[in-house]
Amino acid sequence: MASKASGKPFSRRRQTDIFLGSLKGEKRTIPIDFNKLRLAAKEHLSDEAYAYIAGSAGRESTKRANRDGFSQWKIVPRMLNDVSQCDTEITLFGNRYPAPFLLAPIGVLDMAHPGADLAVAKAAASEDIPFIFSSQASVDMETCSSAMGNSPRWFQLYWSTSNELVESFVRRAESCGCEAIVLTLDTTMLGWRPRDLDLDYLPFLRGRGIAQYSSDPVFQRLMQTELGDADEPPKLTWSSIKALIQMAKNYPGGFWNNLLSKDPRRAVKTFIECYSRPSLTWDDLSFLRSLTDLPILLKGILNPNDAKKAIEHDMDGIIVSNHGGRQVDGAISAIEALPNIIKEVNGDIPVLMDSGIRSGSDMYKAIALGADAVLLGRPYTYGLGISGEQGVREVLKNYRADFELTMALSGCRTVSEISEEHLESV
Ligand SMILES: Cc1cc2nc3c(=O)[nH]c(=O)nc-3n(C[C@H](O)[C@H](O)[C@H](O)COP(=O)(O)O)c2cc1C
Repeated sequence: MASKASGKPFSRRRQTDIFLGSLKGEKRTIPIDFNKLRLAAKEHLSDEAYAYIAGSAGRESTKRANRDGFSQWKIVPRMLNDVSQCDTEITLFGNRYPAPFLLAPIGVLDMAHPGADLAVAKAAASEDIPFIFSSQASVDMETCSSAMGNSPRWFQLYWSTSNELVESFVRRAESCGCEAIVLTLDTTMLGWRPRDLDLDYLPFLRGRGIAQYSSDPVFQRLMQTELGDADEPPKLTWSSIKALIQMAKNYPGGFWNNLLSKDPRRAVKTFIECYSRPSLTWDDLSFLRSLTDLPILLKGILNPNDAKKAIEHDMDGIIVSNHGGRQVDGAISAIEALPNIIKEVNGDIPVLMDSGIRSGSDMYKAIALGADAVLLGRPYTYGLGISGEQGVREVLKNYRADFELTMALSGCRTVSEISEEHLESV
């Protein structure tokens, strides 16, 4: 049991490290409090990067609702339950994980830090917390997984207009040792995001966040078809030159070769043509099902009827999520949507949730409402922005310690003991 490695619970060791570190004069760069973490990251990020990471759809009311939803539930601790030894371990699809949280797929992580996905992969591996590789990663899954040893990883898929590309991604994820496929359903097109629109900045147009694509043999072939036709040279302006330089930097191979080649532009054009399929329907899922024996989870479910359909279509799990409020403004918060979905699923398949998790007590509440695990998103991205791999590692340790303490102090020794009995709505 990882949390008992040195006899003392993980959370006690973490607190000791922090307090003793300060006595020894060590300086911590990662604030514990979420708002301080966000503000510290803002100092390290470009305006475009901060807008992309912090921003959400429309007037950002969904993002606010994600937080407000948690305050509607209060934890009601139980006493005298011998919580000297607590076990935060969970099992999902037959795999054991040390704590009930995974790292959400976050695209274009190089906007936060040049170490990007590779830094996150190493931090996740060092803490044995599963990392869900994004389809929009800045570093390809092969590079990340080769730095992770046997530690757990999943792959998140956006369904391309090309089924051949979908198949290629799934095969690569299998070869990389991914333990599950997460199919994200809520981003068949990009939400209306005022912060990015006001800065006129979309990273993909600069060749950022397309590493899974440009490293893919099927995609490279598609690039050479009419999908990638980028024969028209762009009008040369200061900003088009900057964009061409960025595309050349972000494309695999040598910078000077890339600058003279059409391929970086072809890659961006092909990506825009094929990254997503808005015409996707429930019937398409059988194709994905036929491709792999890995568990498939649908991410972006908010309606109990869709949860029911996921089960009917042979899916293995769902992730209740509104994409951190980035897609539909005025949508239901994920934590509000959770109870009805749990009721509908009735234990048939695992239910995970994300959107708004900012502390150990948020994790606890989601689990008490019936979630099997949660996904951490922006918090680790801010840790990455502040100090790369080390920053992510610190965030992971803090969330794990906070969760373990919340669990113990509420009178629960194991994750399975956490139940609605420990929660009251106000
Ligand atoms: C900058 C950013 C990029 C994201 N990229 C992806 C992605 O590539 N694929 C995906 O399924 N979800 C993506 N998400 C959504 C996250 O997986 C997760 O649902 C969300 O971050 C949860 O909200 P929270 O971080 O506010 O808790 C992204 C979120 C952010 C903030």
